[in-house]
Formats: sequence, structure tokens, C-alpha cells
Amino acid sequence: MKRIYTEAEWRPLWLGLVQEKKSLGFVPTMGALHQGHMDLVEESLSQTDYTLVSIFVNPTQFNSHEDFQNYPNTLEADLALLEAQGVDAVFLPSTETLYPSPPQLSIDFGHLSRVLEGKFRPGHFHGVGLIVAKLFHIIRPTVAFFGQKDLQQVAVVRRLLHDLSFNIDLEVVTTRREKDGLAMSSRNLRLDPQERAVAPLLYSGMQEIKQHLLSGVSWKEAKASFLRRLESEKQFQMEYIALVHPETFEIFEIFSPLGSSSICLAAYLGKIRLIDNLPII
Ligand code: PAF
Repeated sequence: MKRIYTEAEWRPLWLGLVQEKKSLGFVPTMGALHQGHMDLVEESLSQTDYTLVSIFVNPTQFNSHEDFQNYPNTLEADLALLEAQGVDAVFLPSTETLYPSPPQLSIDFGHLSRVLEGKFRPGHFHGVGLIVAKLFHIIRPTVAFFGQKDLQQVAVVRRLLHDLSFNIDLEVVTTRREKDGLAMSSRNLRLDPQERAVAPLLYSGMQEIKQHLLSGVSWKEAKASFLRRLESEKQFQMEYIALVHPETFEIFEIFSPLGSSSICLAAYLGKIRLIDNLPII
């Protein structure tokens, strides 16, 4: 597995792929890899000729310095995992390489920047947009792989690809869950045992809402019963729960079985913020 640190090192390898007409799969990550990331890697390995994974903890997408500082760093284990999986190359840029000076550009995704994650993490999608655009320009992949777990991020990336005319295909990979239903996330490592024990309630609660909606219960009632259940578990602090269109993030007050919709939520368990989503139709 090649370790690449700069665009200058990558360009000749990329040119080689172009000359050999090989497709390039790209999996952007911030490290602390788990099976959810490895699913993206596996998809890339099976769908493309050459797979590059980037590991970079992007400072511009964190809205709390503490969260940035506490982001887990498991680089050696990550590299061993990727190598064992058969990844061709890993991109490990330094902050100075990607941000030689503080960026002045500000990226606003309109409605997507103002609702749910956009509302509760102001500036987050600006940072995601910046780094993903930089990485796309440097790596120039054929296909980029993103996880469905970050559904709003997927919508943001789709917008970025469209509005900036990137010639890159987007592949969205289903959320990988622990046996008890908790969506895999690097943040799960920071839950204490009590928090970890109740965390799966977020997923089971969404499944219950889904069943209610499909059997005719209103969104308002289904959501209220979920919130009552969560309130009885004192450890949760709910940030939002919404029914949305999975691509536009239009927020629905009424469930319709005729169009696509997904439940999206964010909640704190102690200091750890968890997000998850579930497609209804
Ligand atoms: O999903 C993530 O891990 C990050 O938001 C990404 C896409 C790697 C950009 O830093």
C-alpha cells in the first residue's frame, strides 16, 4: 500500500491510471476506522480498479475545538486495516498541505446548510464542502464512496458535485450497525458503558416510528411516543428528530407513503453527540 502525502506525489500515479484506463475509487475518511468505513472500502475494491483512502481530520468542519481535539487518532491500526484489506494507496496530507493559509471562501449549501445538522452545527457543511472539494481536485477519482449514516452530508456532496460540475460518480453505502442496532461511528468509542448500553434505543425507536407510520399512525403521534420513551431514559438529550426528503431535506410535517422519506435524528448521550437515520420508503 502506497503512502502519499502530497498532490505532487500522487499526480504521476494518477496519470498512470488514466493511461491504463483504470477506474479510481476514493474513500475519504477522518480515520478511527471501523467496519462501516471498511464497507465503503470493500465497495470501492469491488467496483473499481484502484482504491485510494484518505485520512485527514479536517479542522474546518468541527464547530467545537474540544470535539476536534478529542477526535480519536488510531493511525497505525487504521493503516494496518487498510493494508490487510488490499487498499492500493492511502493519502495522508498534513494540515499545512491542505490549508497553507486560512481559507477565505465560504460555502453555503442553501437550505441544506440551515436545517438539522446545518442548523445545530453552524459552519459544519462549509467545512465539509471545502475539504471534499479540495480532495476531489487533488485525487480526481472516478467514483467517491460515502456512508448513508451521514445522510445530510451525502446530500451536500451530491450538491457539490452538481453545482461545481465535478465529473465524479457518487456511491452511497448502507449504514453498518452493531448487533444491537447502534450505527457504527468513531464517536461510539467515547461512550461510557452506561451510555453505550442505552444508545441502541435511537435505532429501535426509529424502527418503531417506521412501523407506526406504515400502519397509519401520524408522524406527530409516532414522534411524540418516541420522545416520551427517550425522556424516561434520563441520559439522552435530544437535539432534533425530523421526517425529511432524503435528498432535498425538505421537512415533512405529515407522512406520505407516496414519496421518499427518511427519519433523521441527533441526540447527546453525555458529551457524545450521535446521529442516525432510517429510510421509511
Ligand atoms: O464523513 C467524514 O468522515 C468526513 O466528513 C469527510 C467526508 C471525510 C470529510 O472530512
